[in-house]
Amino acid sequence: MPTVSVHASQPYEVLIDDRTIDDVGAVARQTAGGTRALVISDSHVAPHYLARVRTSLTDAGYQVADHVFPAGEESKTLATYGACLEAAARAQLGRGDVVVALGGGVVGDVAGFAAATYMRGCHCVQVPTSLLAMVDSSVGGKTAVDLPQGKNLAGAFFQPSAVVADTRALDTLSDAFFKDGAGEVAKYGAIADEGLFARLERGLSRSDADLPAVIARCVEIKRDLVEADEREAGVRRYLNFGHTLGHAIERLSGFTESHGCAVVTGMCLISRAAAAMGRCEAVVPQRIDAFARTHGYATTTRYSADDLYRAALSDKKRQGDTMPVVVAPAIGRCEVVPLSLPDFRTWIERAL
Ligand SMILES: NC(=O)c1ccc[n+]([C@@H]2O[C@H](COP(=O)([O-])OP(=O)(O)OC[C@H]3O[C@@H](n4cnc5c(N)ncnc54)[C@H](O)[C@@H]3O)[C@@H](O)[C@H]2O)c1
Ligand SMILES: [Zn+2]
Repeated sequence: MPTVSVHASQPYEVLIDDRTIDDVGAVARQTAGGTRALVISDSHVAPHYLARVRTSLTDAGYQVADHVFPAGEESKTLATYGACLEAAARAQLGRGDVVVALGGGVVGDVAGFAAATYMRGCHCVQVPTSLLAMVDSSVGGKTAVDLPQGKNLAGAFFQPSAVVADTRALDTLSDAFFKDGAGEVAKYGAIADEGLFARLERGLSRSDADLPAVIARCVEIKRDLVEADEREAGVRRYLNFGHTLGHAIERLSGFTESHGCAVVTGMCLISRAAAAMGRCEAVVPQRIDAFARTHGYATTTRYSADDLYRAALSDKKRQGDTMPVVVAPAIGRCEVVPLSLPDFRTWIERAL
């Protein structure tokens, strides 16, 4: 089964169906060490998997504590982060001990940030249970919480000791969140691998025999970009394809639009604009639109160019008067086009 080795500032392995949820303890023992473990999870994931993870950690010789917070992006706050730190202190974790992040991207981001800062950094094993977390958030070392002023505004770069992705855990994930994660999978194909995009055009379901291989390919693509550019000064920005307008849609909807679905719409919009402005082949928006339509994602948005422009201006990726926009000149290729703000405004009009 696929294992992807990541050589970031700290090397680690992403084990995809190579180990199961029941092997988390053994993996933590091998990669992180320590004597105490704090499992952090949320209220949807814990009832399914917390007991198994606790047992595996106990069997591996850890003294185990857990901390479960309410599921959902609303929990990705400083308060939840603070409660995780306090849970670590109550469980008397030391710097050599391990936080296990058991859940989707929210748990991974919050627990990862807690591990990054508890005693100035202990160990973290990521156990992603959503498709999005398996292909994206558990790999690459970005951790964060949201502030009232915006998403992911407080955080740290912090690489895990290991990532244990057990695709059987996806059986309990809702269809809506599976589809959401599949949107990010399509993004990887669009920016780096035409074959992967073609595979996604046929649709992805959790019973597909090649699902672990598809996830592994996404992790490899992210790994390659992160290794080349861990702190996002260059090619790591390719991962933001579809995200500038996708984030704008999420924000305008008050976050009722889910991230992966908004990203697919963002890919449709920016590719339509790029084609109109002569920056990509016409077939790119055609294929991305067809993918979106076939698999139930919106190809456009009800928001106006003005709304999108204003919402996009607060994007963290903006650099003063320049908006770096990620474009796929062909399916499977990627580049960053720095646009002046007036040009960016024109692009949005051409996208709608
Ligand atoms: N750090 C990064 O690089 C990075 C990258 C992309 C996204 N993110 C972050 O990830 C978050 C989104 O991640 P997400 O979509 O996984 O959201 P999430 O963590 O909220 O999970 C989605 C929902 O599915 C539930 N769930 C997860 N796994 C389950 C399972 N196996 N069975 C039953 N229910 C399950 C969760 O409880 C939640 O209700 C956002 O906060 C985003 O900012 C981070
Ligand atoms: Zn994303």
